[in-house]
Amino acid sequence: MPLFYQKNISPTTKLAIWEIEEQETFFLSKVPLHREITHPNKRLQHLAGRYLLPFLFKDFPTKEIEIADTRKPFLPNEQYHFSISHCNKFAAAIVSSDCRVGVDVEFTTPRLHKIKHKFLHPDELRFVNSQLPGKQIDVLSILWSAKEAMYKWYGEGLVDFSEMMRTFPFELQRDGIIDAAFMKNGFHQKLLLNYRRMEELTLVWVGS
Ligand SMILES: CC(C)(COP(=O)(O)OP(=O)(O)OC[C@H]1O[C@@H](n2cnc3c(N)ncnc32)[C@H](O)[C@@H]1OP(=O)(O)O)[C@@H](O)C(=O)NCCC(=O)NCCS
Repeated sequence: MPLFYQKNISPTTKLAIWEIEEQETFFLSKVPLHREITHPNKRLQHLAGRYLLPFLFKDFPTKEIEIADTRKPFLPNEQYHFSISHCNKFAAAIVSSDCRVGVDVEFTTPRLHKIKHKFLHPDELRFVNSQLPGKQIDVLSILWSAKEAMYKWYGEGLVDFSEMMRTFPFELQRDGIIDAAFMKNGFHQKLLLNYRRMEELTLVWVGS
């Protein structure tokens, strides 16, 4: 049973990462496939993400999941808030019965240097540039995952990553917390983002 990581954040909010080693039939015996996904690996990732939901909370009603126009999956009665991410052979999910959540897992990639000006505010770019050269890619990976997790937490799409989601300087560690803010059309929410680095894999989640 390749549970890679689990964190019970509180009695009402839990998170886990699954390392996918099983065949599709393993997941299909536990959760339904709601939509056609032609690429076998993407289908496996999708199923593993869904599998984690009742893994974290036994009574999670996976059959009731609907997909919004923004592609955010949700439960119409909001019995649980949840968020899913996948990357290569890993699938992550966070589930909460009482607060909105967002999660992202990514492998570190130098490609982030090329696109950093698209998702970072000039103040965030200055923070990245203030790091030792060997550490900049680690900070970039965390900030990219941080913004993807915030995007999923918001869930309503149409977000300018550099202007509407802002993170504030933090000390790079194996795991830590980042102060952040989400601002869109008069809606302003302070957020605490949690990150954890596990070798090449970066995990960020929103949800306390
Ligand atoms: C939706 C998005 C965040 C997904 O990220 P990704 O790295 O491609 O993929 P991940 O594996 O981390 O996440 C995929 C999961 O996110 C969830 N998701 C998709 N759209 C979502 C949304 N609008 N809100 C919340 N969650 C969403 C789904 O659960 C999906 O998995 P599933 O289809 O198997 O259920 C990303 O594709 C996206 O659209 N980002 C915003 C685009 C943008 O404006 N970028 C500007 C950067 S400068």
